Amino acid sequence: MLVVKKGKNLTPQEIREVNEAKAREWQIPPMSRHQIAVSTFFHLRNQAGELLSLVQLLNIPPFEFNKEIFRLTGLGGMISNIKGKGFGRELIQGVIKYLDEKDLTTIGFCDDEVAEFYRESGLPIISGLTKKFVYYDKDGQRKVNDKELNVMYKEGSDQFISKILKIDPKEVILSRTPDW
Ligand SMILES: CC(C)(COP(=O)(O)OP(=O)(O)OC[C@H]1O[C@@H](n2cnc3c(N)ncnc32)[C@H](O)[C@@H]1OP(=O)(O)O)[C@@H](O)C(=O)NCCC(=O)NCCS
Repeated sequence: MLVVKKGKNLTPQEIREVNEAKAREWQIPPMSRHQIAVSTFFHLRNQAGELLSLVQLLNIPPFEFNKEIFRLTGLGGMISNIKGKGFGRELIQGVIKYLDEKDLTTIGFCDDEVAEFYRESGLPIISGLTKKFVYYDKDGQRKVNDKELNVMYKEGSDQFISKILKIDPKEVILSRTPDW
């Protein structure tokens, strides 16, 4: 069963489950209140309620690119607690359906190792785009993903990715750091 919940509606137990999975896979600290508040969580569970696979969509504040305002979501935190059984693909397909219904564009970053997983699950992959996504913090410091990753995406009617590929800008200035 796929459960979709805004961060503000997660129970303490659900927050714990997400934090535990992230700590196990990536040794990262628990999510901050802000991270939780700006995310929508997708949890695939079996009938016993066990969490099989999880991912989240992060709300990215609107930003301007080529004189147009875009509202994106960032796809991140993709983990299957039970791997190799098709749960990840089932979850991503649920996310794609949600994005279609809401007409949202999403992008995420992944290394070569898992690019095939996203492609197999229905999200196209582009390489060579990661370093174009930048953010300038309040002190004017330029932030960019330090690793050259693949971009997986699903675009809505705003045609965000197609426009980037067509214009091929030096950089796309986001409204937050591309670190999700
Ligand atoms: C990547 C991950 C989410 C995949 O989830 P999963 O539930 O094991 O994947 P699925 O069983 O649904 O696999 C779907 C397809 O993707 C492919 N695939 C799955 N895992 C893959 C991997 N690690 N590398 C390459 N391809 C993979 C397979 O081809 C599979 O197709 P098949 O069933 O025809 O063989 C899981 O391995 C995981 O949790 N990894 C650790 C965390 C991580 O790296 N997350 C990605 C962050 S960007």
